[in-house]
Order: sequence, then structure tokens, then C-alpha cells
Amino acid sequence: MSLRPAHRARRFLRSLVARRPRAADLEWADSWLDEAERRLFRRMAGVDQVHSIEVARAVEANLDRLGLQPTDADARWLVAAALLHDVGKSVAGLGTYGRVMATLSAAVGGSDMAPHWAERRGMTRRIGLYLQYPRLGADLLEVAGSDERVVAWAAQHHEPEEAWSVPVEAGRLLVAADDGEL
Ligand SMILES: [Fe+2]
Ligand SMILES: [Fe+2]
Repeated sequence: MSLRPAHRARRFLRSLVARRPRAADLEWADSWLDEAERRLFRRMAGVDQVHSIEVARAVEANLDRLGLQPTDADARWLVAAALLHDVGKSVAGLGTYGRVMATLSAAVGGSDMAPHWAERRGMTRRIGLYLQYPRLGADLLEVAGSDERVVAWAAQHHEPEEAWSVPVEAGRLLVAADDGEL
């Protein structure tokens, strides 16, 4: 079942302006996470929580593409992966300005400078960390004891399909949701 276009448009508009998720959405997210994962989710910036909930809602609404129901055991890691894929961004703690700076710095200096920048101080360090957020997120989830597919997706979600360790159909659904295409 695909979300109706009007709903999708409304969700999209809301995601542009919402700085914090609604209480009901947070509760819904909690229902898919264990205690350690909930703590990680709470550390994310409000805008990232809003984005992640939107991605996860789209995944849940399209589970049938993988022949799954929300109540199936295999649905859990998929929705959790959607909720936590960007969790590494919380490490750098950058606001909008810092994120723009990070993107520009990577364009100017090259993203392979990120590990070097992360050794520095202040804004340079934060930018270095931000640019490495997929790996940092995977590390956080590993320590939290998350499903190995949830850990893998945090690390791999911006990698090409060949680099995925999760089933390719599952990864494609997660990417489509992340890109707002569902
Ligand atoms: Fe991401
Ligand atoms: Fe994302």
C-alpha cells in the first residue's frame, strides 16, 4: 500500500518546517526500538528525528513490497534501520550553518580530509566528524547492541549497492524512502 500523494505532500511540507517530531510520532518510533536505541534516537537533533521518522513511516507503509507485514519479525530491523540510519550526525552536533560548512569544506578540501580534520579542534573537528557520520553511527549502534543489519545500514546507506551487506531489495526500499520517493 503506497501512501496517498496528498499525504505525501503534506508530510514533505511538514518535514521542511518541523524542528521537532510530534509526541505521537516519537511514541511510534519508540515502539520499534529497544531501550539503548531509544537513547541514541533521543540524542539526535530534532530535524534529524523528523527526517528519520518520515523515512521509517514510508518504509513501514511499503513493507509489502518485500512481502512483509509490520508484525513480521523481519520488519523490525528495517524500520529500526530507517529510524537510525543518520544517528552518527549526533556526534558532530552541527546546526544548519555547520552542515553547510561541512558540505562546502568537503567540496573544497576533499572528503578524504575528514579523518585529519577530526583530529583537530573546534569547528574543524566537528566538520571532520560530520563528514564521517555513517561510520560513527554504525559504531554507536554496534555498542548499543543493535541488529547487525541496522549497524550495517548506518555505515553503508550512502554507498553503492555493491558495498551493501544487507539484502539488496531491502536496501533499495530504504534508499527510496530516504530520498522521499515513496
Ligand atoms: Fe545519510
Ligand atoms: Fe537520511
